[in-house]
Amino acid sequence: MKKFSEVIYSPEVEDKLVISKRENHTPRIEAPKEVKSGEAFPVKVYIQGHPNTVQHSFRWIELYFYEMGRDFNPIFIARAELTPEISEQEATFRVKLNKSGIIYAFAYCNLHGVWENRTEIKVI
Ligand SMILES: [Fe+2]
Repeated sequence: MKKFSEVIYSPEVEDKLVISKRENHTPRIEAPKEVKSGEAFPVKVYIQGHPNTVQHSFRWIELYFYEMGRDFNPIFIARAELTPEISEQEATFRVKLNKSGIIYAFAYCNLHGVWENRTEIKVI
């Protein structure tokens, strides 16, 4: 029986079928590499080149944070629910961090599952 982590499509997944869908399913993250402690900054997550119809679209985007030095991770940051055809397949969150770590973005396509990407953020 597969663990849930095995059915999340991360950039490292080698499966041929997953690779064929990677380009237009992997959430892209735009965020600064370095931020000031306690100062809000934008994190934009979007999916490029994917259909946006009632039959086939991304339905939500979630953001989590892996905080360096914390015993239990991740920390849930935010979730955006998307309505096919009306909502563009993107969301911008404003985030405040006090410690460095990794921001994870998850996005769910109703036909092709949960896709993941991540970026490291240094807090100065
Ligand atoms: Fe899809």
